[in-house]
Amino acid sequence: MPKKKSAPDWNYAPAPESSSQVNLAKRYDHFIGGKWTPPSNQSYFTSTNPATGKKIAEVADGSPTDVEAAVKAARAAYKGSWGKMSGRERGKYLYRIARLIQERAREFAIIETLDGGKPIREARDIDIPLAANHFFYHAGWADKLDYAFPNQKTAPLGVAGQIIPWNFPFLMAAWKIAPALATGNTVVLKPAETTPLTALKLAELIADAGLPDGVVNIVTGAGETGAAIVNHGDIDKIAFTGSTAVGKLIQKSLAHTEKRLTLELGGKAANIILDDAPIDQAVEGIVNGIYFNQGHVCCAGSRLFVQENVFDEVMWKLKRRMDSLIVGDPLDKNTDIGAINSKAQLKTIQRYIKAGIKDGGEIYQPSCDLPAKGNWCLPTVFTNVAQSSIIAQEEIFGPVLAVQTFRTVPEVIEKANNTPYGLSAGVWSDKGARLFQLTKSLQAGVVWGNTFNQFDPTSPFGGFKESGYGREGGLHGLAAYLNLEFS
Ligand code: NAI
Ligand code: MG
Repeated sequence: MPKKKSAPDWNYAPAPESSSQVNLAKRYDHFIGGKWTPPSNQSYFTSTNPATGKKIAEVADGSPTDVEAAVKAARAAYKGSWGKMSGRERGKYLYRIARLIQERAREFAIIETLDGGKPIREARDIDIPLAANHFFYHAGWADKLDYAFPNQKTAPLGVAGQIIPWNFPFLMAAWKIAPALATGNTVVLKPAETTPLTALKLAELIADAGLPDGVVNIVTGAGETGAAIVNHGDIDKIAFTGSTAVGKLIQKSLAHTEKRLTLELGGKAANIILDDAPIDQAVEGIVNGIYFNQGHVCCAGSRLFVQENVFDEVMWKLKRRMDSLIVGDPLDKNTDIGAINSKAQLKTIQRYIKAGIKDGGEIYQPSCDLPAKGNWCLPTVFTNVAQSSIIAQEEIFGPVLAVQTFRTVPEVIEKANNTPYGLSAGVWSDKGARLFQLTKSLQAGVVWGNTFNQFDPTSPFGGFKESGYGREGGLHGLAAYLNLEFS
């Protein structure tokens, strides 16, 4: 095995994206019934830029009274023009929203990066185009629901309450809103408190698209605002993406109600490298799986399983690759790893790193200058990790990888499935038969073969076990917003 060399000594010149064309207000109210509506208690909170700690805008803090107003508006729109509209007409609105997102993609990408800390390259190449794709895909279904579910009568559920997290703020808003509208529902959506701005800009875009008032309502706030949506008596369905702890709370609160529920929760994905895998591609897949979006990804490949006979090669190549990752200004087009979304999340990640060391893990982090201000975490890998170690068991939601080895396929299946989660997994091998043998046995909603973190609106996404239930995307995702009855 070659000796580890130091990091390459070349550097890229800074290539910052300009934020000059971004148009942000100093203060945002709720978007209710097509109107910007101040919070009933006059209270606002601040959304900051996690890369600088600077305040970006003030945002309304939603009270139960505000949620009540939003649900009323959504119900009125459902009973009114939207509920009566043909699928063909609904589809036109969805196409219009999709095209407007494409037109304003650059602005949305910059705001996503400013508010959440993710590298502009990802916001530009993944989050915003995929969000537009979700609207395009669902626009196509709006007038074809009878074909999507042959021999079944389809009817919308009514008003959907949707609560989303901070890791893919705009994309999650699209995942939630597009299928709900395609199937004829109306929506009250709450973005996460650290990343509300792209959802509020989406409200502006939706108004520009001429969507009837009240079809989409955006209420901002933290957990209490979310709970007011969950517990509102006139909501027919809750769609939640976030932590497993809050998902469980929501499930409990809905246990005695008729509300439909889909939960997309945490994960602890296994990324499995077999000894015949194309190692260079696999290393790229490992990096993409865990360092992408600072590891703020529910399906992040946070547990790496490497077959013993290729362990040295994989680790040598992985560390060399980590040495070349650029951590810093998320607006710089060269940046690979941006800012950790909040101080609280950074503390959580640091706590896990300490716990990993205490549990006997061997840590490696490349050396790299970090900006003086903001929330930063170096890409981190742990080897010598016991199956029982906290960093192999719990979701960290940061750029921290726990590596284990295995000798046989049955052994890795057992280890990979030994987790309360089951959202995603990855397998790397030269042989299709070996891939399929593993994909069949892994308890995960998505299993990627020779790739990682690929998303497509046509493909259902969701988890097993404590990763939640219900699917988003594809036909399964449409069904989650419909009452289906055999005719
Ligand atoms: P969280 O689950 O508290 O936040 C997600 C959303 O739920 C936010 O919009 C939040 O305002 C809302 N919320 C919070 N409490 C609520 C309640 N009682 N009722 C209704 N809505 C509520 O996640 P948090 O605290 O920001 O992150 C903690 C951990 O959760 C992370 O470290 C990560 O492990 C995990 N997480 C997983 C995500 C995923 O995509 N699966 C996304 C975000 C966090
Ligand atoms: Mg923010």
